[in-house]
Amino acid sequence: MLKFDAKTARLLDSAYQGADITRRRQGSFDALQPAPGEIIMDVGCGNGLLTAELARALGSSGRVIGVDPSDDMRKSAIERCKDFDWVEIVEGSVSQLPAGPESVDKAVSVQVFEYLSDIPGAIKEIHRVLKPGGRLVIGDIHFDSLVWFSNAPDRMARMIAAWDHHFVERSVPALLQPILKQTGFAVEAIHPITICDHQLRPDGLANMMIILMENFAASNGHMSPEEAREWATEQRTLAAEGAFFFSITHFVVSANKM
Ligand SMILES: C[S@@+](CC[C@H](N)C(=O)[O-])C[C@H]1O[C@@H](n2cnc3c(N)ncnc32)[C@H](O)[C@@H]1O
Repeated sequence: MLKFDAKTARLLDSAYQGADITRRRQGSFDALQPAPGEIIMDVGCGNGLLTAELARALGSSGRVIGVDPSDDMRKSAIERCKDFDWVEIVEGSVSQLPAGPESVDKAVSVQVFEYLSDIPGAIKEIHRVLKPGGRLVIGDIHFDSLVWFSNAPDRMARMIAAWDHHFVERSVPALLQPILKQTGFAVEAIHPITICDHQLRPDGLANMMIILMENFAASNGHMSPEEAREWATEQRTLAAEGAFFFSITHFVVSANKM
């Protein structure tokens, strides 16, 4: 699994403010429809970018609870949200949320479910803390949507297989609908957000993934450091030649507690 340590937190802090990931976050923000005075839980809040945006939208009559198990990610979220008295950043996991039954109006979880070994358990726990009629928004990538050009397709396939070790589940969006229904949610919408990059933009998702994937594959023994570097170098060379192509789809799933 990818470690959400200080080094990763620093990289995500910058990359998550880029255009692609901002668009992905905006999709969840819009689906959540935050309104002044609400209590919203950001499950797996990471570095707190969405947490801070929700805090601004709710105003001081509202409350945002950001929950994350990683000390380094929480540290960044606490710093980002320090001006909002109505935000709490709390250590915790979706398997045992730090909130009482039916105490939260809405919950959101972006790019977290792919790291969970018990997705039904997580949805049940969120269902417990939501008020009747409460809204849940889950955003995640379906990794089968990844299209990434390479002149060395076998090496690209090995790198993508290596990256599959960084999470638990590659198909989260396709799995959610029946689990949500069985847990007592009505699924309202599944909205795709496709991120396509043909330039290898410095602030893009692809650029962040190249850095993370090279490092992950080499340091976890899925690929030799030389092969991982050659893979990354090819992508930068393709970009310099005007031949870079990357596309992936993030899905925003909205549901309401029945
Ligand atoms: C890719 S980051 C996404 C952070 C944030 N939601 C965002 O979109 O900017 C994944 C986050 O999930 C958190 N996480 C991993 N396992 C978790 C769990 N069991 N419960 C809650 N959060 C978890 C990690 O610590 C990390 O901060």
